[in-house]
Amino acid sequence: MEVVVHETGEELAGYAADRIRAEATSGVLRVLGVATGSSPSPVYTALAAGNASPLAGLEVFALDEYVGLPPGDPRSYHAVIDREITKPLGLDPARVHVPDGAAADLVAAARAYEVAIAEAGGVDLQILGIGTDGHIGFNEPSSSLRSRTRVKTLTASTRADNARFFDRPEQVPTHCLTQGLGTILDARRVLLVAQGRHKATAVAASIEGPLTAMCPGSVLQLHPDATIVLDREAASELRLLDYYRYVAEHKHAVTPTR
Ligand code: F6R
Repeated sequence: MEVVVHETGEELAGYAADRIRAEATSGVLRVLGVATGSSPSPVYTALAAGNASPLAGLEVFALDEYVGLPPGDPRSYHAVIDREITKPLGLDPARVHVPDGAAADLVAAARAYEVAIAEAGGVDLQILGIGTDGHIGFNEPSSSLRSRTRVKTLTASTRADNARFFDRPEQVPTHCLTQGLGTILDARRVLLVAQGRHKATAVAASIEGPLTAMCPGSVLQLHPDATIVLDREAASELRLLDYYRYVAEHKHAVTPTR
């Protein structure tokens, strides 16, 4: 994993936005996977603040959606993505896909989502946030490391974390449709962003802890091209922080010995 640490969330968002724009401009990015949440959100703001034209033709796949919110509910991830990504970046709504958490047959909706990703040619770059319990997408602790898109039950801690978006905590849905950890691992490149002290334990466990279903973010240790972009606070529990900084500073200084 490449670990990149920035002083502030603003720098972090700018770095991630530049990377997305550069990939889209060079043509290696056609299918973008997006996450919602307070860490990814400033990345989309930074993207929208710059030249969004390289992004116009992107196909976009969201990671997850609540089950049971009616279509058009402003708290649904479909609505969040529309507000934060589709409209500000001027994307074609027909090319922006979100799991159908309002489907009568959720098993069929999950299967159809996997098929749609495959038919688009797979995700080139997957943006991820991380929950305080280590979830990526909504793959909660104990998720199968090879899981595919499916219904998951949200943990009490995730529901409490997300209660800020609802009038009352009991309104937070209990279930979601989420891409699986195996689905996320299939993305060609992964870029996880995390900001804030409250993410430090989950970040350290994902990067330096054992590979375990108890910390779903640790599955990224199996990914051949994962970049983790952090602010100083989210990086504060990393044991090898000095090493990651050294690697980043000397990235282009390696001289092949033969
Ligand atoms: C949502 C998603 C989640 C969030 C995570 C962090 O699409 O994929 O994994 O990224 O819950 O959310 P924040 O940043 O709001 O704490």
